[in-house]
Amino acid sequence: MSVNRADREFHFTSADFNLIKDLIYKRAGINLAESKKDMVYSRLSRRLRANGLKTFQQYLELLNDNQSDEQQEFLNSLTTNLTSFFREAHHFDILKEFLESRPHPVKIWCCAASTGEEPYSIAIACMEHFSSYTPPVKIWASDLDTKVLDKASKGVYSFERVEKLPDQRLKDFFFRGKGANSGLVKVKSPLQDMIHFFQLNLLDSSWPINEKFDVIFCRNVMIYFDKPTQYKVLKKFQPYLKDDGLLFAGHSESFPHASDLFKLRKHTVYTKA
Ligand SMILES: C[S@@+](CC[C@H](N)C(=O)[O-])C[C@H]1O[C@@H](n2cnc3c(N)ncnc32)[C@H](O)[C@@H]1O
Repeated sequence: MSVNRADREFHFTSADFNLIKDLIYKRAGINLAESKKDMVYSRLSRRLRANGLKTFQQYLELLNDNQSDEQQEFLNSLTTNLTSFFREAHHFDILKEFLESRPHPVKIWCCAASTGEEPYSIAIACMEHFSSYTPPVKIWASDLDTKVLDKASKGVYSFERVEKLPDQRLKDFFFRGKGANSGLVKVKSPLQDMIHFFQLNLLDSSWPINEKFDVIFCRNVMIYFDKPTQYKVLKKFQPYLKDDGLLFAGHSESFPHASDLFKLRKHTVYTKA
């Protein structure tokens, strides 16, 4: 599909796309391929409408105003938040095995938590492992995108998001909505109590964390970064991960270019080199 389709509401040129591409790369590390032009147009057209703007040029001017609330909306619009409960399920078995030998409390950071399915899956795995609603584990869950964090902290999902979970998990960890809430589930409050949600941009020069973690989950976000950015983020993880801690990556992520920092242990799980 061409960028300048006649039926488009707003004129959108390659130059507009390139400016947006540079901006999201600078602010979030997200490396947009040319093939994302239509996606960018469609997501940002909504922002033009919301701001009552007529052109992408006006929108780019708004983004250059550092005081504008639109900065965050821009980031929220261009993130991809695909996730699910117990995605890459083998990782949760590796986590449970790892919990055996850890001093308490075990500290886990999920750094691209999206709408919360991942940190809640981590919390469920920990509760199952310790057979307790108050396991000796603390979870920090962050994301760049404030909209997904808001959804994550509420812990309310459509039933389809959980229908593939085993019945026992559903009973133990979710309430099913009734009446006006039918078709929805809500995570039980001990799960929410275990997790501290906060905003964090992996690209920021300093992070608002004062912890050393046993485990970092950083899954399916590095794929949006180029190799130099991945290396920078991996280097920044170093002081936040205990020497014998684990770093979980996504199924299509690997870091041979950072072999001085992390070595593969198994199935996209890394330890410090
Ligand atoms: C595809 S989702 C992955 C969610 C989850 N980790 C999983 O594997 O199912 C990627 C998430 O990374 C977040 N993200 C993108 N760039 C980021 C950045 N610079 N800092 C922190 N989070 C970022 C997005 O907002 C999005 O929620």
